[in-house]
Amino acid sequence: MAIAIMAAGQGTRLKSQLPKVLHEVGGKPLLAHVIAAATRIVPPNDVFAIIGHEADRVRSAVANTAINFVLQAEQRGTGHALMVARNALSAYDHVIVLSGDAPQITPQTIARLLNFHLDEPAAMTLLSADLDHPTCYGRILRKNPRDAEVQAIVEEKSATPAQKKIREINAGFYVFAVAQLLSHIEKLSTANPHSEYYLTDMAEVLRKAKQRVVVYKTEDPGEVLGANTRAELSFIDHQIRMCKCQQLMSEGVTIFYPATCVIDDDVEIAPDTVIEPFVQILGKSRIGAACRIRSYSVIRDSEIADGVLVRPGCILEEAHVGPNAVLGPYSHLRPGSDIGEAAHVGNFVETKKIKLGKGSNYDGVNKHTTIIEDGVFIGSDSTLVAPVRVGKGAYVGAASCITEDVPGDALAVGRSRQIVKEGWAREKRAAKLK
Ligand code: UD1
Ligand code: CA
Repeated sequence: MAIAIMAAGQGTRLKSQLPKVLHEVGGKPLLAHVIAAATRIVPPNDVFAIIGHEADRVRSAVANTAINFVLQAEQRGTGHALMVARNALSAYDHVIVLSGDAPQITPQTIARLLNFHLDEPAAMTLLSADLDHPTCYGRILRKNPRDAEVQAIVEEKSATPAQKKIREINAGFYVFAVAQLLSHIEKLSTANPHSEYYLTDMAEVLRKAKQRVVVYKTEDPGEVLGANTRAELSFIDHQIRMCKCQQLMSEGVTIFYPATCVIDDDVEIAPDTVIEPFVQILGKSRIGAACRIRSYSVIRDSEIADGVLVRPGCILEEAHVGPNAVLGPYSHLRPGSDIGEAAHVGNFVETKKIKLGKGSNYDGVNKHTTIIEDGVFIGSDSTLVAPVRVGKGAYVGAASCITEDVPGDALAVGRSRQIVKEGWAREKRAAKLK
């Protein structure tokens, strides 16, 4: 069993420099979603992405998946995509063909399509769905409405007004018996409005060659939607995000106003954590139990332990936060920030590559070679210029600029002494009035 993913197209309708399958929904490229579903069915070694437009860019974006690539240097249609994959596929009995631009397909549906194909058995089995708005999709012409056998697939541009009324659409997912596909694929022609080789025409080609062509209809039309336009991208993104929020809520996470939250697919959140409105949790972030993430925080690729309070407006990137710590409001934790258990990081603080120990209370600006020992008090608006060490139990007066080490239990004041000039302001005002 092989899986071929058609991913070579440019995506003209997106009007973009970026190849279509690299546009993101749910925080990752369209193609990455389809590959994730494919590799739940067969090992990566049996998955072939057919790439062409900006092939190098597409290849490197999903290189970590260990799948194979086939180059379709010139994109002459979905049928042509399978023609160029001939050598890669010829050793297999069956090939499942997926569209790289339809990211919501599930392994369950692919498996059902495959089982249907093998049970029939058929030369070609296609997935269909009933859509309320079928415009732009290919329509299924069944031999007889009650029967799985297919007469042909007619593309929107070639459909008659009567055919355009058909709501059963071709989802763009197929299973073929490889021998039948490859022995008849050369019969495809480009005699159509796009002058392309349509893979959909294989239905008619195989039927005319007396091969069995059948359709399996999915109950969930949401799964098959393609992202051909920016509007479709945003609709699919919304569906994926809502689905993620539903999953998290079912696992015990409270999310107020989920429609305002952006939570990526790979994010993990433990029960009893509360996510307030307008929060983004991105990448591979992991959040523990009983945390509260207040509004307007953006958390990317970070680990947050249990019981953490993230006050409004915090930004975390590749940060690590220990249990019961308190952040913000408006703290910016940059990569390598490691905040200890029950530590507090206050308003408008920026950290990078720092290790803040258990119970620390930190409200200055820090660099990674600054060491603040336990029990230190740093007065507000102080600047610690690294490398510097503030010894255990020391005090730093407010607004100090500390450039030298402070011994333990000492007081350091690093600012000029205040001077007071009696009557100065009054004289200045008087001078102005003259
Ligand atoms: C296709 C189907 C249509 C179906 C719809 C479902 C055809 C002719 N039509 O239309 O019946 O309803 O999908 O979403 O197949 N691609 C290549 N090489 C090419 C051309 C396309 O790899 O030469 C890839 C694209 O990158 C894309 C996929 O094939 O991932 C589908 O192509 P697209 O142009 O989006 O087809 P649709 O017009 O959506
Ligand atoms: Ca499409």
